[in-house]
Parts: sequence; C-alpha cells; structure tokens
Amino acid sequence: MASINDYQHSLANPEQFWKEKAETLAWFKFPEKILSTNEQGFYRWYEGGQLNTSYLCLDYHVETGRGEQAALIYDSPVTNTIMEFTYRELRDKVAVFAGLLASKGVVKGDTVIIYMPMVPEAVVAMLACARLGAIHSVVFGGFAPHELAIRIDDAEPKVIVSASCGIEFDRVIPYKPLIDQALKEATFEPDYHIVLQRPMALAELRSDREVDWNQALESVEPHTYVPVDAWDPLYILYTSGTTGKPKGIIRDNGGHAVVMKYSLQAVYDTNPGDVFWAASDIGWAVGHSYIVYAPLISGCTTILFEGKPIRTPDAGTFWRIIEQHKVKTFFTAPTAIRAIKKEDSEGKLFEKYDVSSLKYLFVAGERCDPATYEWVSDLLKIPVIDHWWQTESGSPMLANMAGVGLKPVKPGSSSTPVPGYDVQIMGENGELLGPNQEGYVVIKLPLGPGCFPTLWKDDERFRKGYLSKFEGYYLTGDGGFKDDDNYFYIMGRVDDVINVSGHRLSTGEMEEIVAANTVVAECAVVGIADKLRGQRPIALVVLKDGRNISREDLEAELVKSVRETIGAISYFKTVVLVKRLPKTRSGKILRKIIRNIADDVPFDIPSTIDDPAILTEIKEVLKSHQIGLEFEMD
Ligand code: COA
Ligand code: AMP
Repeated sequence: MASINDYQHSLANPEQFWKEKAETLAWFKFPEKILSTNEQGFYRWYEGGQLNTSYLCLDYHVETGRGEQAALIYDSPVTNTIMEFTYRELRDKVAVFAGLLASKGVVKGDTVIIYMPMVPEAVVAMLACARLGAIHSVVFGGFAPHELAIRIDDAEPKVIVSASCGIEFDRVIPYKPLIDQALKEATFEPDYHIVLQRPMALAELRSDREVDWNQALESVEPHTYVPVDAWDPLYILYTSGTTGKPKGIIRDNGGHAVVMKYSLQAVYDTNPGDVFWAASDIGWAVGHSYIVYAPLISGCTTILFEGKPIRTPDAGTFWRIIEQHKVKTFFTAPTAIRAIKKEDSEGKLFEKYDVSSLKYLFVAGERCDPATYEWVSDLLKIPVIDHWWQTESGSPMLANMAGVGLKPVKPGSSSTPVPGYDVQIMGENGELLGPNQEGYVVIKLPLGPGCFPTLWKDDERFRKGYLSKFEGYYLTGDGGFKDDDNYFYIMGRVDDVINVSGHRLSTGEMEEIVAANTVVAECAVVGIADKLRGQRPIALVVLKDGRNISREDLEAELVKSVRETIGAISYFKTVVLVKRLPKTRSGKILRKIIRNIADDVPFDIPSTIDDPAILTEIKEVLKSHQIGLEFEMD
C-alpha cells in the first residue's frame, strides 16, 4: 500500500522503494538488480527481470479470479454502442489477434504501427503486441498522412493495424486513403496492413498484403504470452519536439508495469474492481497509461470512450457516462471542461445525472487555470486535482496524491512531487532556485522507473535534448516555480512546443511548413493564449520582396499546408503579415516576446534586441488582427 512517507523513502532509498513496489507484480523472474547504468551511461530499472505486460493485464486476472469482471467498457455515442468485455473475453480476443499477428510474421522485438480510432480492437491490438513481445507504436488518428509516414520510416513496422474509418462528431473519416498516402510517402514498406472494417465506411482491400481483420481471424490460433526482459521496449510513442522530426519515446516493460500499478493506487486512489475513466485517446500517453495499462494491470474496469465532451450528443455526455458506468475516478483535460462550461455554464445538463459514484476528477495535459478549476469544483463538489506529467514520464511527476491522503488543493498548482521525482527549479546557470523564483523545471537523475529510458534509435538526441543542459538533471522543457510549501506551478513550455486542446505540437514544425512557401522570406510561429484550447498557433510572416499576395490568400494556402501536413488538430488558422521580426543582434528571433505581446504579458526588453522599436510595430499589427483582444473583452 502507498503511504504518506513514500516520497521521502523513494528519494532516500530508491532501490529499496522500487524493489518493494516491484514485489507487487507477478514477474516470471524477479529482477536481479533494481537500478543499473547501461553501456550508454543511462539509468535502467529492473535488470534481469522477466515478465509479460499482456499477461499482467489479462491472464493474471483470469487466473486469480477476476475473469468475469468487466475489464473494458466501450461507450461510443457516435455509433450508439455500449459494449462490455470481461477480463476473460478480452484475454481471448487478444490471444487470437496475437495469433493473427504471429501468422503474419510478427515476433518479439518487431514493431507494429497502430493507427486506429477509439474502438476496443485498438486496445486488443496494443495488448496483442505486448503479448508477443512486439513493440507497438500507436499514432493518433488525427494526424495527417505525412506525420504517419515519418513514424513509419522511423519505427519500420512489420505490420500496420488500422480501421477503415474514424468518426469525428457526425463526420466519417475514411482511414485507408490516409494510410495509402502515408505508405506512398514513406520509404519503408511494412509487410502487411491489417484493416478492421467498420460498416460506416468499408475500405477497399486490394492485395494479399491488405488483410481484413475479421476474415483473417477465422483461420488463426490463439497465441500465448512471450516472456520479455524488463528492459525490452513495450512501445514507442512519438511526441512533438522542437523540430519537424518527432521524438520516439520508448517505454520499457518492467519499470512501466511497476509504475502503472503503483500510480493508480497511490496517485489516483483506484483499487482492483474500481471503475476508472480517462477521457483521452489511445494515441496519447494518457491513453496508453490510463485507458489501457494502469487500469488493466490493476484489475480495474476501464472506459473506452469514442466521442467528445460536447456535441456527442451534448455537454452532458461525460456525466451520463459517469452515472451509467459508476465511474469512481475520472481524468480529462482542462480544455474539455472549458468546452463543457461554454455550452452548459449553469450545469443544467449536469443536473440530469447522478454522479455520486465519482470521488475524484484529475486534470492534466495543460495547466488547469483557476477559473476552470473553480467552476468544475463548484459543480462536482469533489476534489479536482491538477497533476503534471509528460509523454516522457508516462505517469504523473507532480500530483496531489489521493491514495496517500490529499493535501490542501492550491488552484493553479499541480501540487508536490510524486515518489521517484526530485523536481527542482533551476536558473540559467545551473543554480537551484528557492521558493517563488521562476526558472527551468528540472528533475534530478535518476528518473523514476516508468520514465522513458531513451529515445528510439537516438541515444544522442536523448542525451542532447534532455540531459546535457544541466549535468545530472533531466530538462523537462517546462518553466515554473515552487512556493514555500513546495507546491509547484508549471507556467508553460520554455521551448517551441505548444499545447493546443491538450495536444502537444511543435511550432518549429509549423514554421518549417510556412517557410517552405515560395513567397515567405521568414516567419515565426508562436503559441498564443486561447480561451478554449489553452493555446493556438499563429504565424507572423515577412514576405519576400516584390511578392504580391494578399494576406487572406496566403493564410488560406498556409492553413491548407499545415492541415495537410500535420493534421486538423494543429488548429492553425491565423497568418499575420509583418515587415520584420523582432530579433537579437545575432539574428535569433525573439519568439517568446512575440508571445508575450500577443498575450499582453509584461516582459523585460532584452538588452540584446536589435531594434526595440519593432515591438511597437508588432503590437499594432497583432491588435489590428484582434489578437489578444478576446481576453480584454471579459
Ligand atoms: N481524427 C481526425 N480528426 C480529428 C481528430 C481525430 N482523432 N481529433 C480532432 N480532429 C480534428 C477535428 O475534427 C477538428 O477538425 P476541423 O478543424 O475540420 O473541425 C480539428 O481536428 C480540431 O480538433 P479539436 O482541437 O479537437 O477541436 P474541436 O472543436 O473538434 O473540439 C474540444 C474541441 C475541446 C471538444 C476537443 O479538442 C477535446 O475534446 N479536447 C480534449 C482533448 C483531450 O482530452 N486531450 C487529452 C490529451 S491528454
Ligand atoms: P504531453 O507530452 O503531450 O503529455 O505534454 C506534456 C506537456 O504538457 C508538459 O511538458 C507541460 O507543458 C504540459 N502539461 C501537462 N500537464 C500539465 C499540468 N498539469 N500543468 C501544466 N502543464 C501541463
């Protein structure tokens, strides 16, 4: 059981602490060593351990008497479907699909890309890979073919698993053409493409390499679980960095399983048999950890929701699901709460439902602004817990831990560090800062066992991007401060990553797309504050001399390019023409200052600025486009 002393214990004696936590899992072979350093000099957990994550999620529960309990409830307002799968049923489905993958040549260590909407088969595919010791890489269905192509070339999957379509509100999105386009763009060629046919849009399968999921299942045998090493990767999950090349976050099997189990109890106070719902997507880290792995490893019931917080069919959907499936612990993004608040500010839809089963609301993905916190706390009258984490960590690093006893909530703060994470605030020169001083949010090494051990096929980028700025510390990419009670306040990214509707995106990548337009001399894409989405990108563009294009026409072209290259989720809608960009004397674009001007945040003019007069110009241009005024009108 988790205890209030866990944090101190985890820092004072990490090996002992994480050994105890590991003992709660059914390993095939218990690790020989808890913490090691590998050949690259990176920390690794649980050397010599052997396990299988799919076994822990499924077979273990069937063997220990949980076989008839609901493992997964699929609730899909967009298809009017609710389906329940017991642990036994899910285990059997996974075993058969693992048999299908094996029949297509997938073995331990191979990679498989899963590009699917929120259907149970997506979870089945993930767990089937885990069963074989294959490494899955789920690509969020909202990404455009180009993004998928990059991931295909990097992960080199033996098989791609997809569905024939996804559903966005009432719009059916055929996936096969997107995958075909991605495969055309990619240089790597997978052996097979397995397609789950959904009746709303059947995919045309044109060769033996394009396999109909259900038809193919008829001729395969179930496959048992394959023991893997603790250090073997379970999955790769690509996330946005500061360039167009996404980072392949690796999660290993051993440390991940331990932290999934520990965190569900310690952070979320969720125990075997409880119903846990993370309203995210399996394409994100939250979906991996808290739709699939943590609830299943812990013997809970997880909800797989195919819908949106609003318009599927209305802003009462979340509350309907909580009532109907008796959800105890709910996890969503602040942006979803803001969307509900906008449509049902007085809680009229909320009043229609009995949500008395609900004990906690956890929010993450972006900072929970105090106004959203107050509104939803008043509505639910239960603890609303903002907690902070990243794809890299795979589980919370700052949280008010419900399973060890809640501390007072401080709106705007993600509370205090979670066991395994020595979180600190650091100044530019590597000096640790005290309370109420803003700086880089860093974590003293080693990181906890659930964290990524490195990047897929790129140890150098891992070292350079995360470990080299401050020796002995992990650079999170966030800025913030702590208060006198060691509560942390995460104030936003210090790099070119932005958060749009809880989706992590790279402005650097958008800049590359904008800069590729033939009329663009130079540009800056920055994330500015957005009332609903938290942030949204805008582009400031300097035209090449003599190019005559209207702002509107250029905007339409660039919006189309970004949408087609990254996807509609980028929410890139605004292009502003400027005569020049603010720069330092050495030519570095001052993106943060542009952001501050747009958001009307006070800032110091850097002494290195080339020409301070430009700041007034930028302010005027942004104002003429109504940027920033949305907030002034409140
Ligand atoms: N497949 C295809 N397209 C997708 C998609 C998917 N899985 N997800 C989003 N899109 C599209 C949308 O249809 C929309 O397209 P459009 O511009 O043609 O209308 C575009 O991407 C932008 O989507 P989104 O930012 O989601 O805006 P929205 O208006 O559709 O919905 C919210 C707004 C707030 C309801 C929605 O963003 C939401 O539910 N956010 C919560 C996200 C979340 O839980 N994140 C957790 C990550 S931990
Ligand atoms: P992702 O990797 O997609 O989970 O995005 C991680 C980033 O989201 C973090 O680096 C933060 O910038 C932001 N983030 C996530 N949770 C929070 C939170 N609770 N408060 C503030 N920022 C958050």
